[in-house]
Amino acid sequence: MRKEINRREFVLAGAATAGLAVGSRKVFGRAPAMQVAGVKPVVVASGNGHRSRNSDGETCVEVAFRKMTAGDDVLDSLIAGVNIVELDPNDASVGYGGRPNADGVVQLDSCCMHGPKRQAGGVGALEGVRAPSLVAKAVMDHTDHHLLVGDGAQQFARNMGFEIEADLNTDNSRRQYLEWKRRTDPGHYLNPEERLEAGIQAGLDMVAEGIIPEEEYWGTINCDGINGRGEICGVTTTSGLSWKIPGRVGDSPILGAGLYVDGTYGAAGSTGRGEANLYNLTSYLIVENLRNGMSAKDAGMAGLKRVQENTVESRLLNDEGNPSFGINFYIIDAKGEHAGVSLYESERSRYAVCTENGAELAPLEGLLQRSNG
Ligand code: GLY
Repeated sequence: MRKEINRREFVLAGAATAGLAVGSRKVFGRAPAMQVAGVKPVVVASGNGHRSRNSDGETCVEVAFRKMTAGDDVLDSLIAGVNIVELDPNDASVGYGGRPNADGVVQLDSCCMHGPKRQAGGVGALEGVRAPSLVAKAVMDHTDHHLLVGDGAQQFARNMGFEIEADLNTDNSRRQYLEWKRRTDPGHYLNPEERLEAGIQAGLDMVAEGIIPEEEYWGTINCDGINGRGEICGVTTTSGLSWKIPGRVGDSPILGAGLYVDGTYGAAGSTGRGEANLYNLTSYLIVENLRNGMSAKDAGMAGLKRVQENTVESRLLNDEGNPSFGINFYIIDAKGEHAGVSLYESERSRYAVCTENGAELAPLEGLLQRSNG
């Protein structure tokens, strides 16, 4: 039977195809057939974007690419993708089951940017909501603001109808927290500086001993996409630094740091040590490099060089005078060219990519070689 289409649906469908304004709002998405010449649709993400799976066996980048190329709004598609990782109790760096702060409380950060709409939203130190990316999107859609934090963010989420849970820890995140707490033993350190150092050292030792994977210590997911019409969006979501000082907000919800999207030139987002990224607003810098004509890879490498140049404190340097931490960026330009770059070259470092040829884990380009030590 032929589906009847009413006048309003017809106007909306036509406007979506042509990217026209309906009233005061532009309509995006829902027109898979239209293609801008030379633009290759792609979704990129950190490696965990091709690890956790939904009940149909699809990963974040696969879901995002499928929805986006079927005509759904690019940002809605990317968020549907990262929701898989946020809700996966086995990913201990994002959403539900993410690593808690130093008081054992899971506090989540996220932001999202919509290139064509030039809109953004974010939440910081949000407790009790499994998928903070959806709250970040609600901040974008329903407020005049770009960032809500702490109790205010939670109250906003409650008002928007999100379920608020008392505790987002899983058995795994709680067990690792207790191990960290046992090692830190704060009662025996009267000097707060020593206690802080012991906390950081205990975390790094647990990485070195393989109790937690290195990429999860500052673990996060960033996911960026461009559809055939050249519409670019991005989202970043995280539980932040493992066992952080309560209230610490990293780079992930900060526009220009954990994510930056320019609807005309491209997108960049990050995982890794948030403080190094916040100091340099590196995602913004990388997108500015795209604007100035650099390739995705060169733009990312220039961002990493800036991080390296601005890391001068001895506590953050290794024996060779290079940064002792890890940081990665995931980049797409306005044609769908993409790159993943990492401060250190590593066989294991991969980023997730999904194109019309399917999803894969591609190598990250490294700026520096790790010393043997
Ligand atoms: N990049 C995640 C964080 O530092 O919180």
